[in-house]
Amino acid sequence: MTTAVGSLLATLPGDRYTDPDNFRREQERIFETEWFCAVRAADLEGPGAFRTVQVGRESVLVTRNRRGELRAFLNVCRHRGARLCTEQAGQVRRSLQCPYHAWTYDLDGRLTAAPNLTRMPDVDRSAFGLHTVPLREWLGYAWVCLAAEPPSFEETVMADVAERLGGGEVIGHYGIESLALGRRHTYDVAANWKLIVENFMECYHCATIHPELTEVLPEFADGFAAQYYVGHGPSFAPEAEGFTVDGRAGFARLPGVPDAHDRRYYALTVRPQVFVNLVPDHVIWHRMFPMAADRTVVECDWLYAPDVVVSGADLSPSVELFHRVNVQDFDACERTQPAMASRAYRQGGVLVPSEHHIGEFHTWVTERLGEDTDR
Ligand code: FES
Ligand code: FE
Repeated sequence: MTTAVGSLLATLPGDRYTDPDNFRREQERIFETEWFCAVRAADLEGPGAFRTVQVGRESVLVTRNRRGELRAFLNVCRHRGARLCTEQAGQVRRSLQCPYHAWTYDLDGRLTAAPNLTRMPDVDRSAFGLHTVPLREWLGYAWVCLAAEPPSFEETVMADVAERLGGGEVIGHYGIESLALGRRHTYDVAANWKLIVENFMECYHCATIHPELTEVLPEFADGFAAQYYVGHGPSFAPEAEGFTVDGRAGFARLPGVPDAHDRRYYALTVRPQVFVNLVPDHVIWHRMFPMAADRTVVECDWLYAPDVVVSGADLSPSVELFHRVNVQDFDACERTQPAMASRAYRQGGVLVPSEHHIGEFHTWVTERLGEDTDR
């Protein structure tokens, strides 16, 4: 969607943020088609640990099998369709048992027991295993894909990261897969997922709503479009000792972070639903779960070197900085959402030059919906 308004680009029309039919098409053609970052692998500690997440219109069950591998399934019993696991997280001993008629599946999704089924020898149990969902583990997260034929993970997710972060080397310096979870906040945001992506992609708003962030990253006070030009990594203010809410020192630099990346901030979006922030001593990893046209759950992980978490050090000064940024951003998105239905926004709004890269995101969305991008 690259319509121009004078020298400015237009945004998407308001109904793209409110219309349930449009949202359903996005679920189908984006979240159920692309690789989707579902769970943090370390959240599933041992065999039988499970999590359930919403991916598009489906509930997906991610669990760890007896060999320690992650597996993903549609969270639907093959008998009469009951939700197999209703909790968001839990632990089973060795099998998943449906609470309705007690069909039982092993941790690889095979149907292992069903009351009275043995009396029906012509029923082939192997035909009634759980529907498996392709899963890839990368950077400590389990990514799943609901497409009948998943696109190449390397050519989509990994290439996306490489393109946005100078060849993909930068992300490797942070050793994300071996970091430990220090803190997690979950935000239930009354806004369309695209408003959240757009917000994350521009820093035109930074001077207005992020006083703490611009103290540490003064460049952002100029409204610099940070998320697409992150390759250079904006520098911390000279007086900021660390990426903390009050500028106090953080923790030791992560072992792989080179001098050139010290005291710098990198951020990127991984389409369709991940945002990552990299600073020398920690990584902030957001996963978005679009629930409705006007509701998005965002789960945000603060990841540190394992010895920092084990030491019991006070993480609050660093967590508080980006927690405030998140609250400020999500408040702005929630303020915007109701106005998407106004006649004033029927044709959409505009993107100033420092936001023009958001037009590329609109084109990406529009193409996936199979619509004409020049309308
Ligand atoms: Fe699951 Fe009947 S619906 S056992
Ligand atoms: Fe922001």
